[in-house]
Amino acid sequence: MSGSIPQDFIDEVVARTDLVALIDRRVPLKKAGKDHTARCPFHDEKSPSFTVSADKQFYHCFGCGAHGNAIGFLMAFERLEFRDAVAELASQAGLELPAGGEGPVPRHKELLDVLEAAARFYRQQLGEHPKAIDYLKQRGLGSAVAATFGLGYAPAGWDSLLQHLGRTPEHRPLLLETGLLVAREGSGNGLYDRFRDRIIFPIRDSRGRVIGFGGRIMDQGQPKYLNSPETPLFHKGRELYGLYEARQAQRELPWILVVEGYMDVLMLAEHGITNAVATLGTATTPDHLRRLFRHTTRVVFCFDGDRAGRDAAARALQTSLPEMHDGREVAFLFLPEGEDPDSLVRREGRGAFLVRVGQAQPLSDFLLQRLRDQVDLHTLEGRARLLERARPALRAIPQGAFRALLEQTLARLAGMEHADLMRMEGGKAPSSPPRPRPTVVHPTPVQRLMGLILAHPVAAQWIDPSLLPLLKAGDTEAQWLLALIELARASPHLSGGGLLEGFREHPAEPLFGQLLIWQPERAEEGMARECRDICRHLLQQQARGQIDTLLEKAAVQGLDAAEKEQLRLLLSRRGG
Ligand code: CTP
Ligand code: MN
Repeated sequence: MSGSIPQDFIDEVVARTDLVALIDRRVPLKKAGKDHTARCPFHDEKSPSFTVSADKQFYHCFGCGAHGNAIGFLMAFERLEFRDAVAELASQAGLELPAGGEGPVPRHKELLDVLEAAARFYRQQLGEHPKAIDYLKQRGLGSAVAATFGLGYAPAGWDSLLQHLGRTPEHRPLLLETGLLVAREGSGNGLYDRFRDRIIFPIRDSRGRVIGFGGRIMDQGQPKYLNSPETPLFHKGRELYGLYEARQAQRELPWILVVEGYMDVLMLAEHGITNAVATLGTATTPDHLRRLFRHTTRVVFCFDGDRAGRDAAARALQTSLPEMHDGREVAFLFLPEGEDPDSLVRREGRGAFLVRVGQAQPLSDFLLQRLRDQVDLHTLEGRARLLERARPALRAIPQGAFRALLEQTLARLAGMEHADLMRMEGGKAPSSPPRPRPTVVHPTPVQRLMGLILAHPVAAQWIDPSLLPLLKAGDTEAQWLLALIELARASPHLSGGGLLEGFREHPAEPLFGQLLIWQPERAEEGMARECRDICRHLLQQQARGQIDTLLEKAAVQGLDAAEKEQLRLLLSRRGG
């Protein structure tokens, strides 16, 4: 779902959203003067420092520095991706998301509707087929977990779903596209059900919408599992079975367990471990990891203890390295041979299983163990080989404390000074921590204008037009101010938070965010005066510079006619 959404549309969505109401539905707010406050949902605190401004359509926490507009709030609070946050707000505002990169979106809506209808059908069929319920019972699965995950049953026979949904002619192409119906090869134009006589596992996206299905056979037949094919809505390399349900069970997920199968997720949930997710028959992808780290700081991979399991773990390790930003953890849990989480949690129970999770091998440990493997650290050659083997892994890890510590450990193992190792690598000493967001203490005139416009976008109309060419020729911040003025003038209905949206991922965003907070509340009249004063000050400053240059030139080499005229004009303006 990558098609970019037009900025106009995003602006419109933000403008139509009432941030105070949006937040209040999730974090009850108290009115305090012009603003609303609450205890911050993004960090632990006793007294409220989380503030929402209705005027600016902007929230800010004085405790932890979290801030943003409606889109930012949904992304942070609901852990949605940008596009999903915009889609959510759009649907609340009754706006239709414009077509993205992957075809018309109204079609998505139709596909989702038909998938939901199919899920309903399968669910209802489960209730009517005791043998399917018995299968789940015999596997140890209760009705509560079955209901939470929306489990269902696809009846035997070739056309149950076809008869139920396919009778509406418009449904047929949709059912074909989702892969729920399959076209019979050769003979005529017959269609038949993909899922027949199988337990059905609906796969939901991060917003809880059914986007595909898995189906398990109940006896020894083949294949044991069948999944929906890839569709515009369903990408196996992105989706994680159980992530939506995990988020519903617990808002904060201190860790997430990644397992292999549907039944593992379900059986862990049955034993009260509701934070497990499964990849859908594929290896873990970078997309998976990024998605996981939106919801937690600790990811624990579960693998079989056998050779194949170790190899799979090694692949997950490689995929994890580039995601190891400081503050994140990855660990590996190796299961006894012949067990999967499903069988293990049933045999040992919840407590013993959680102990295993707690003792999972940290990524650093697993990595070092693999690097030392088959290397003789008693010889110089062996130690050099260790460093040689470590190089690609170290390069893959983002700069930060974690990488520096690993380097240190490796250097120690090789009997080398860390600094020597770094020199050998042609690198610099351990990296500096990320730069803190700028704090505006003494704003410059340009920054004060930015602050005025962000607090009160109509101020963009008060800017003296003769200032604009000057900004255009000015430094970076002058350019940013110009961009801000242009946006505010082009979209006069935007709030400060809405303006900020136009600068998402722009280098100016951190500064604008700070200025939006810093700007004190004032009467419009005072702001208009301040705006005029700053413009005049900037113009005078500029004129003074030009006068000085011209006078200097007059003294050294003389002025031509045009320059004389310009000087006369500048001097007369200064007088007036
Ligand atoms: N899988 C699949 N297609 C198959 C077999 C497996 O897509 N033919 C995927 C499924 O997502 C399944 C996972 O791989 O959940 C794990 O498969 P497997 O270990 O074979 O099954 P279990 O999870 O142990 O399932 P069960 O306990 O029901 O036998
Ligand atoms: Mn199993």
